[in-house]
Amino acid sequence: MIPMVDLKKQFQEIKDEVFDVLAKILESSQYILGPNVSEFEKKVADYHGVQEAVGVASGTDALHLSIDALGIGKGDEVITTPFTFFATAEAILYTGAQPVFVDVDPDTFTIDVAQLEKKITEKTKAILPVHLFGHMADMGKISDIAKKYSLKVIEDCAQSFGAELNGKKAGSFGDTGCFSFYPSKNLGGYGDGGLIILNDPVMADTIRKLRNHGSGRSYIHERIGVNSRLDEIQAGILLVKLKRIDDYNRKRRLKAALYNELLSDKVKCPVEKNGAYHVYHQYTIISQRRDEIKKQLKENGVSSVIYYPVPLHLQEALKFLGYKNGDFPVAERVAGEVLSLPMYPELEESAIIKIAEIIRKVV
Ligand SMILES: Cc1ncc(COP(=O)(O)O)c(C=O)c1O
Repeated sequence: MIPMVDLKKQFQEIKDEVFDVLAKILESSQYILGPNVSEFEKKVADYHGVQEAVGVASGTDALHLSIDALGIGKGDEVITTPFTFFATAEAILYTGAQPVFVDVDPDTFTIDVAQLEKKITEKTKAILPVHLFGHMADMGKISDIAKKYSLKVIEDCAQSFGAELNGKKAGSFGDTGCFSFYPSKNLGGYGDGGLIILNDPVMADTIRKLRNHGSGRSYIHERIGVNSRLDEIQAGILLVKLKRIDDYNRKRRLKAALYNELLSDKVKCPVEKNGAYHVYHQYTIISQRRDEIKKQLKENGVSSVIYYPVPLHLQEALKFLGYKNGDFPVAERVAGEVLSLPMYPELEESAIIKIAEIIRKVV
């Protein structure tokens, strides 16, 4: 079997260090908001060249608390993409605001900036681009549009830790950058986790309170918040992996280059736009024979996953937003043609060659 990700293999390589960290944390008896969380926040902020980082319980919460802290809620609109994981829209809806979708670029699957401006109304308060699969959205244009209309920008970086555009890291362009450390993410913990980066210390303070029941001092509550703290164990594990993230991403890029070499004449391979540093959280191909490829891979013991089979505007749970089939033709087309192949830093060359051979036989 060739899995989509092999977390076991990665764990074997860092096992001693992880056990060491776990032993120290367990013996310290400080399990919530302790020194590991503070150190992890500081190191992630430094890594991105920003002033603040606030650890939270998940990527979904990172988005939700960002939107909330920016004062966006009922009656407001947030522009985003329909081709993403459900949590992107869910986080907007948690605050009472409404997601407004704009179709995606067929090459990068990120929000199509050419269509963005026409969706802006007086209710629009923010743009929420998603750096899908490890490739950044066009943050230059998005920042220009946001400035022109005085809109906030919340970057969904759940799939793009370490990705760059013109040498600047994902998450450091907008008002906030929101990360997920779900185990299979390119920087993943051994449980749920998330984090927000930003350059505004006042807002960081607000988010620190929001994540802890609206409280800055024990049992004094300034507003209604939530329970969304990154725990010490996850922060400790993430510190071990953070040291290696550039190496992990570099290895992902090498695997992607080999896939490209073996497949680009047969299927549409991922595009890396000028100035972009793709971290290949997913390696996603496009083919009209996607279902046949998936079936053959499965029969030969190779996993593959369709991220995402149904765009958000056609999801049952979001019917009430009033969208219909045909509203976002690119998102709808790619949902029928995308296939993500196994991708992880430890993936062996021989596995990529085998996968490519199977695909080449089908197409
Ligand atoms: C694009 C995107 N946004 C948001 C999330 C939510 O992150 P989490 O699962 O940590 O809540 C995820 C991952 O699951 C994601 O892929």
